[in-house]
Amino acid sequence: MAMRKQVGALSFVGSFPRDWPDLDLPEVAFAGRSNVGKSSALNTLLNSRKAARVSGRPGRTQAINLFKVGNACIFADLPGYGFAKVPAAVQSHWKTMIESYLAERETLRMVILLVDARRKPQEMDGMLHYALTESDIPSLVVATKVDKLKKQQLQRNLRAIAKEFNLPAGQPVPFSSHNGTGRDAVWTHIETACR
Ligand code: GTP
Ligand code: MG
Repeated sequence: MAMRKQVGALSFVGSFPRDWPDLDLPEVAFAGRSNVGKSSALNTLLNSRKAARVSGRPGRTQAINLFKVGNACIFADLPGYGFAKVPAAVQSHWKTMIESYLAERETLRMVILLVDARRKPQEMDGMLHYALTESDIPSLVVATKVDKLKKQQLQRNLRAIAKEFNLPAGQPVPFSSHNGTGRDAVWTHIETACR
């Protein structure tokens, strides 16, 4: 059965700052700056309004939240980075946690890097994308909140993001949690990565 058909059997595994449990299923992680729409994207993909908590207060998730999608795969909601009001000690904790997650998580098949379609990619986005490429971890760049842009502006911004990260055709995938744009395309990438 296609993975995306298993979202009905969704369960929350838990929230882990370290010692992530071995779950023996292919895993896809969602990363990006704070407030970019990671949790919303997860909920959109999972057809669930409340699987991942959508935050009004950026920077509050400081652990990795794991979700089990039927018997098909694991989604990992990574804490966001780059929120100015978060103290330096927390930012550095974030970096350490993400570095060890990326280095140690053997079941990790792909990192979905979310960037805001309205903004220029941030320095941390570039660093993370570079780190993924260097470690041979497959990545997919997804541009969120495309519902907030007019068509022409959106096309311009998507081209700028593609250029910035030197992306292959088809990326960034335009995405909106508000109207479902890009949902099928992202699922197709996930299914391919987790086969
Ligand atoms: P942190 O967990 O704090 O890192 O944030 P996050 O990346 O998980 O973002 P979250 O999903 O909590 O969304 C942040 C805000 O952006 C919320 O107010 C969402 O409603 C809004 N938002 C998320 N996705 C979209 C989208 O596709 N379109 C629009 N218009 N708003 C969105
Ligand atoms: Mg979140």
